[in-house]
Formats: sequence, C-alpha cells, structure tokens
Amino acid sequence: MIKILTLGIETSCDETAAAVLRGGREILSNVISTQIPVHQKFGGVVPEIASRKHIVNIMPVIDEAITKAGVELSQISQIAVTYGPGLVGALLVGVSAAKTLAYALKVPLIAVNHMEGHIFANFLSAPELEPPFLALVVSGGHSALILQKDYNNFELLGQTRDDAAGEAFDKIARVMDLPYPGGPQIDKLAKLGNPDAIDFPRAKVSNFDFSFSGLKSAVLNYLNSAKMKGEEINNADVAASFQKAVVDALVDKTIAAAEKFQLKKIVLAGGVAANSSLEGTLRKNCDAQGLEFYFPSKILCTDNAAMIACRGYYQSLEKKFADSTLNAVPNLTF
Ligand code: KG4
Ligand code: ZN
Repeated sequence: MIKILTLGIETSCDETAAAVLRGGREILSNVISTQIPVHQKFGGVVPEIASRKHIVNIMPVIDEAITKAGVELSQISQIAVTYGPGLVGALLVGVSAAKTLAYALKVPLIAVNHMEGHIFANFLSAPELEPPFLALVVSGGHSALILQKDYNNFELLGQTRDDAAGEAFDKIARVMDLPYPGGPQIDKLAKLGNPDAIDFPRAKVSNFDFSFSGLKSAVLNYLNSAKMKGEEINNADVAASFQKAVVDALVDKTIAAAEKFQLKKIVLAGGVAANSSLEGTLRKNCDAQGLEFYFPSKILCTDNAAMIACRGYYQSLEKKFADSTLNAVPNLTF
C-alpha cells in the first residue's frame, strides 16, 4: 500500500525545521536548524533576526529533510505548515515557503496550529496512543490544559492568565545570569539544590487556569532583597525551589482535571515537557492515581516539524485543507 508522504514545515520562533512523515506516525526525516546561539548574546529571541535567519535556512533545511527521507520532492503528497501562534515575521517565512511549494507541486496545503502540533508529538513517540486524553501543553508561549476528545476535536479547559511556564523559566534564568533559553539551565542547576529551601508562593487561581507572574515576582524580590542585604544567594536552591513551585502548580491542576473529566490518559507536551522534574513528578502522580502517562522523546518536546506534519496528516484525513490565501496568525489560540 502506498502511504501518504507529508512534508512538515515549522518556523514559528527560533528553529527552522522540516520533516517528512510516511503515513501518520512514521518519521522519515526530522531536520531542525536552531538559531539559539545567535539569540543567546541578546538574552532572548530577537524577532527581526529570527525572520532573516529563517529566510536563509528554510530551503536548505527542506532540501535536507527530503534527502534524509530518501524521497524526491515530486513524491510529496501534501504540505503541513505552522501558521500560528508565534512571531509574525518568522511564521511568514514558513507559510510562504509552504504555499509556494504546494502550488508548484500541485499538492494540498494544511494549516497547523503550533500548540496542537506539540500535543501530536506524542503520537510519534507512542504509536499506540489514541484520544481521548488530557494534554498539559507547556511551552515558551503557552501553558494550557486541553481535553483532546478526538484527533480533530479539542476543548480548552484552562490556561495561564499571565506568563507561560517556559517564559517564567526563561525570565528567572535571565536574572540569575544563566544563558538563553533558561529552562534547561534551571533544570540542570535545580538538580544541585534543595527544592524545599525557599517557600515560594503558589498562585490560587480558580478552575484549571494557571498564573506564574506572582511566583516570578516573588523570586525576583527574594534575589533583590538578598543582594541588598549582602546575603549570599544559593542559586541552586533558588532554581530548585522555583522549579518545584511551577511543577506543583502544573501537576496539581492536571491531576484534578483528569479526575473531574474522568480521563485515564495524561499527555505532556511542549518545550517545558523536557523538564526532568515535571516529567518525573507528573509520572509519579499518574502512577499513584492509576493513570497512563505519555510524554514525547526530548527532540520531539521542543519545536520541530515532525509534530507539525503529524498534526497535518490527521487534519488531511478530514479534508481540512488551506488555500493560497493562508496567512500567519501570530496570536492564534486553541
Ligand atoms: O515549545 P518550545 O520549543 O517553543 C515554544 O513553542 O515556545 O518551548 C521552549 C520553552 C523555553 O521557554 C525553554 O526554556 C523551555 O521550553 N524548556 C524548558 C526545558 N527545555 C526547554 N523548560 C524547563 N526545563 C527544561 N528542561
Ligand atoms: Zn513550541
């Protein structure tokens, strides 16, 4: 049986990525060209530089994905591209490339929501996984609890009211003089510290929403007042205590939502899913509650195009195609 070949394209932030999938879940290639070293000296992503780098990288990355997959461009059946949320100038590079290729190859174009793509990374890591499930999506731009009823049916149960979890990690890392992106740095440093050393506050937010800006201010106040008093700061303890506060909030709400909506499977997604404490704590809690726990391999946690191709494939099964009027939607929601 000839299986559909989907080319995925992702340029929403600081990774230029392209991937080829055979059928819905078989990765033939997954190429990621990261711009992290370029943005590191500015302490965060500079949108204008990101767009320019995407323009330079996009065609070589697509070429490499096609070559590594061992296929010809003419064999591609359809093209899935991230159209939001993200940086508008960055998104436009991927969207323009995808529209041009789809037109030239005369193949369908599929518009993919980046956050949905993150959830679908789990289908690539766990071929047996099927909806319904509860997804905790935590990235640099979003923190949300999603009820995935079917492949093309999502319900937003709650989300952050201010900072995203990854954003909080990055901001705290920055004031601690750790390089961008701060999440992996805090994760590493926290392993050397005591998570119970400092009792940072947990926000009391109703329903299944999150809030991390109060926690961020509490950590900043702690660091500033210690500096002013000339007290020595144990950075590892600060990192571990901050991380525990974030993880506690995310895990508590996830377990409560699973109980309320009677869901037996929990899926972790997004860049912050790579956090070892979040993964470990959520897994432990799921085990204790008799829930199945899924999370993507590290390379599929952070931005990549295989997850976009996977999401696109399932949209194509319901003939959810885009056309040449497709535009970037930087503030796209679920
Ligand atoms: O999903 P992603 O690659 O990009 C967005 O869609 O935002 O997520 C990037 C975010 C960054 O904030 C980064 O600091 C965070 O994920 N991150 C982590 C870890 N690895 C990446 N946060 C905590 N611990 C990690 N190990
Ligand atoms: Zn992402």
